[in-house]
Formats: sequence, structure tokens, C-alpha cells
Amino acid sequence: MKNFYKNKKVLITGHTGFKGSWLTQVLLNWEAEVVGVSLAPNTEPNLFEILGLKAKIKNYFSDIRNLEAMKKIFIDEKPEIVFHLAAQPIVRLSYDDPLGTLSTNIMGTANILEVCKEATSVKSVVIITTDKVYENKEWHYAYRENDPLGGHDPYSSSKAAADIVTNSYIQSFFNPEDFGTKHNALVAIARAGNVIGGGDWAEYRLIPDVIKAIYHTDTHVEIRNPEAVRPWQHVLEPLSGYLMLAEELYNKKKELSGAWNFGPNNDSFVSVRVLAEGAKEILGKGEYKINPDTTKHEANLLKLDINKAIAVLGWKPLLSFKETLDLTFNWYKNYYENGEDIVEYTNKQINSFLK
Ligand SMILES: NC(=O)c1ccc[n+]([C@@H]2O[C@H](COP(=O)([O-])OP(=O)(O)OC[C@H]3O[C@@H](n4cnc5c(N)ncnc54)[C@H](O)[C@@H]3O)[C@@H](O)[C@H]2O)c1
Repeated sequence: MKNFYKNKKVLITGHTGFKGSWLTQVLLNWEAEVVGVSLAPNTEPNLFEILGLKAKIKNYFSDIRNLEAMKKIFIDEKPEIVFHLAAQPIVRLSYDDPLGTLSTNIMGTANILEVCKEATSVKSVVIITTDKVYENKEWHYAYRENDPLGGHDPYSSSKAAADIVTNSYIQSFFNPEDFGTKHNALVAIARAGNVIGGGDWAEYRLIPDVIKAIYHTDTHVEIRNPEAVRPWQHVLEPLSGYLMLAEELYNKKKELSGAWNFGPNNDSFVSVRVLAEGAKEILGKGEYKINPDTTKHEANLLKLDINKAIAVLGWKPLLSFKETLDLTFNWYKNYYENGEDIVEYTNKQINSFLK
């Protein structure tokens, strides 16, 4: 992948966010030319500034809901590969601002697809949705790519809608059957689970909640839903899937257009309580108390079936749950306590993962 991405023009939406900052750093290490399109970072601290990314890429602070602004960026920058991550990604915030969530996640995605359709430079597009796009039956079976979509909360429904819109663009404008005649780009949808790793300080997420309680406010970690089982995975796991997928699409593997699940190994489907215990063990602190809050519905059990990615793409999750926790909490430990240069430390984690 390193050779492939060298000198490629890659546009990332959501590059100021948690996953986008990691993706930007990986691509910079591979000497890709990165263009970033997002709102300015909205947490303090944030990984985008910690890694000093603004100075290393072509940076746009621009709203994906603004179609004219997106058109101009695509015309000026002529990206070859597009990773679309920009979104309002928090379930609980989607209850406070359903319309903002719907407009960013649905129309923002439609705008990105529309400008990709018009841009002759674009060859490969990966649209990032989520495991929450599936109609959640709260059962133990894992969801496959062709299972029905749904969404109880506004976030899940907005992502399911974005997924459906993307599929419609694939059928209508990026149909693999018309590839090379009517269009020259291939599009895929990537659905991942609960992503963790160093450098996330978002609201209403377990890891940032743990970190802020320990290092910012010196309080107990409050856990809303201790028995909820989530598919925890380190951020580099789904990112490696997105990167593999974009490369294959660029290389004209038209059969790979469509939806993909990128979930963790079975041992990483664990409860919030088990994860909080693991954090306490690694950090040596982090007492938690359970403060149930059922006022806003959140899914309890969600498993992804990743057999398609394993069999067809050759992707698979590499890290055990223990390794995922170690990478995550040791990153914060280094940031707050050990003080090794954080860009170097982040790159060390990236390099050891890639190896
Ligand atoms: N973190 C997870 O556990 C997880 C799990 C599954 C899917 N996802 C998906 O992955 C993607 C990235 O998530 P994240 O955790 O990095 O989120 P994040 O909140 O850290 O980052 C979101 C990014 O989107 C940008 N953004 C938001 N609204 C925008 C707008 N209107 N215009 C332009 N940019 C806008 C933000 O500026 C930021 O760069 C999202 O699409 C999310 O739905 C995340």
C-alpha cells in the first residue's frame, strides 16, 4: 500500500476528526498528497492539532453541506481517491440535533457523491457509514452486508439513509457494468463498529469519557450502559480495510464496488463493563460508577459478519482485544504521563500495526 499511495492525490472529508486524523497521518507517512475537507476541530485537545496536520496537507475548513464549495474544492484539487468520513457521528447528540445530523450525514454524503460524479479525476471512492446502519434486532447473529438497513435513533437512520443514497449512486451513476464506458470511478461503502484508539476526546464516547474523568476532572467514570456489548476495534483496523478497498477500486476491481463490513475478532465483542475494567488495569486508575440513563435509546448488541472482507478482499482484523486496549490506553498514558514525542509515538503504533 505504501508504494501504491505514494504521490497519489487523496481527499479525506472528516480529516480533523478522530479517524480522519489517523488516516491522514498514515497517508502522509506513505507520501500521499492529502487534501482535507472538514469543519475545524471541535474538541480540546484534538488529534488533528496534536499531530500538526494542518501544516502538512492542503487544508479546507468547509461544510460538506455546501455543494458549491465542494464543487470548487474538487475542481481545484482534482483528487484521485476520496475517503468520505465527515459526519455528525454521535448517537446521543443526534437526539439533540436530529436535523443537523440528517442534513450533514445524508445531504453531505449526497453532495460528496455528486461532486465525485462530476470530477473526472476521481477513480476510487470509499464512503464510511457504520455498523449502526443495520436494522438492529438485538440478537446474537452477526449482520451481513445484504441484511436490511434501519435505524432507531436519528444518527443510525441518517447513516442508513446515507448508505442507501450511496447505493443508489452506485446503481445509477457508478454502476460497475458501465465502468470504463459511462464513468471511470468505482464506489464502495465501509461499515465498521465501535472504533477506539488514542486521540479521541469526543463527547458521549466511552474511551474519551474514561480519559477525561481520569486526567481532566479527576472524578469517577460514569457508565450509562455497562452490559451493552459493542464490537470494539482499534482505529487502524478499519482504516486498513478502507485503504485496501480504495486501492483495489483504483485498480479497477469493479466487482468490489458495494458494501463491506469491517468488524473485529470475536474476542472483541465485549461489554462496556469489561472495557472499563481493562482501562483501569492498564492506566492503574479509573474507578467507575454505574449511572443508568435510559432516556435516550442506544442499541445493546450489534455484531458484524466480516466473512466477505476476509474471503474477497483478503482483509482481516489483526489485533486481539487485549492488544487493542493496550494500544489505546498506552497512547493516552504517553500523552498525559510519559511525554514521548506524540507524533513519533503515534507513528510507532502505526508502524508496528502495519508490520
Ligand atoms: N468512531 C466510531 O466509533 C465510528 C464507528 C462507526 C462509524 N464511524 C464513522 O466514521 C466517521 C468518522 O468518525 P469519527 O469518530 O472520526 O468522528 P469525529 O467526530 O471525530 O469526526 C467527524 C469529522 O467530520 C467533520 N464534520 C462534521 N460535520 C461536518 C460538516 N457539516 N461539514 C464538514 N465536515 C464535517 C468534523 O469536522 C470531523 O472532521 C464518521 O462517518 C462516523 O459516522 C465512526
